Amino acid sequence: MYLTKEEEQILNGEAGETLRQAIGILVTLGDIYGADRLIPIKSAQIAGVSYKTIGDAGLEWISDLQGKVKVPSILNPAGMDLEDWERLRISPDFAEKQKLIVQAYKKLGIQCECTCTPYILEGFNVGYGDHLAWSESSAVSYANSVIGARTNREGGPSALSAALLGKTANYGFHLDENRVPEISIYVEDKLEVSDYGALGYVAGKLVGSKVPVFHLKNSPGVDELKALGAAMAASGAVALYHVEGVTPEICRLDFEEPAEKITIERKQLGEVYESRKKACKEPELITVGCPHCSAAELKKVAKLLKGKTVSKEFWIFTSRELTKCYPEYIKTIEKSGAKVVCDTCMVVSPATNSYSCVMVNSGKALAYVPGMCGAEAVYGSLEACVEEAVDGTEKKAGDSY
Ligand code: F3S
Repeated sequence: MYLTKEEEQILNGEAGETLRQAIGILVTLGDIYGADRLIPIKSAQIAGVSYKTIGDAGLEWISDLQGKVKVPSILNPAGMDLEDWERLRISPDFAEKQKLIVQAYKKLGIQCECTCTPYILEGFNVGYGDHLAWSESSAVSYANSVIGARTNREGGPSALSAALLGKTANYGFHLDENRVPEISIYVEDKLEVSDYGALGYVAGKLVGSKVPVFHLKNSPGVDELKALGAAMAASGAVALYHVEGVTPEICRLDFEEPAEKITIERKQLGEVYESRKKACKEPELITVGCPHCSAAELKKVAKLLKGKTVSKEFWIFTSRELTKCYPEYIKTIEKSGAKVVCDTCMVVSPATNSYSCVMVNSGKALAYVPGMCGAEAVYGSLEACVEEAVDGTEKKAGDSY
């Protein structure tokens, strides 16, 4: 891989040990994947934040790093709500370690808003064709597919290295030739909002890491695309997809129709709703917000919960910024007894581990909760999740929005 004189000096340790390690990681990856050079990036999003996933070894590594990031950089969800961790019964020991991890990242100049939807944040603008080093799989999928930006699915250390250098190795989804659709997916039925997570769950298993192009009967909005991409990245390893007539790259560029074609039928989506129901008849915990809820989704949850009381634990995950922008939705949701939780999620928080059956409206959470939290998971629409959580008691509602 070609390195400039300055990059050679960094690799030789002339800019300090942290940058030597950082460029070493990028050069190793670049050599493995055939990169020709390092390219500048606009931003980085760094996974490997929850103490549940990185443990003491991760904390030690991050704490030893010196210097500051060179581009706007943000964190993926941590293992707890950083401002209200006691509410989900996180242990004080876990909380202490989690705070140390976030402080170590902060010391490096990283923005400590912990979210998997950085693209909605003011000041974290990403545009078509921008090169990024993002690591959370749903955010990567959204950036590549819905925005038309360019990022590989970075590991935590490589995203952090890219942030410290302001560069990444030029391979994979940074290159035109790897963004071409490889398989066509036809979906014959019209889809409901909740079907997109189920579709992603089915499609990811079928296509693995190929780049699919969907031919749909309806035009999904951004929240449906977010759910589709997140699920495909979890049940498969899809980091980029196209939707004919909807996503920007397929609309701007001339791609040939792939030779490989599959059709996904309503019956296959129905199986996602039914899957694991036998093992998990009675959900004890209901969670939504994987990926983190958008403003529109918070509004919908608030509307569905208005004047009602939940009878089961119901957690709604979102970014802290949105809770500040839409306090009226949060107030309505929390009045029902449901909990709006920031900085974390049902998968990376240890709080989920104490339940045996969790209901989700996310194909990604359906794929990850069993393995990461030791709980069974069942899938339903947002409306079905709210229904499961509510005891049916209608209250007089005072809120309006
Ligand atoms: Fe985000 Fe956690 Fe889901 S990081 S995409 S809410 S698994």
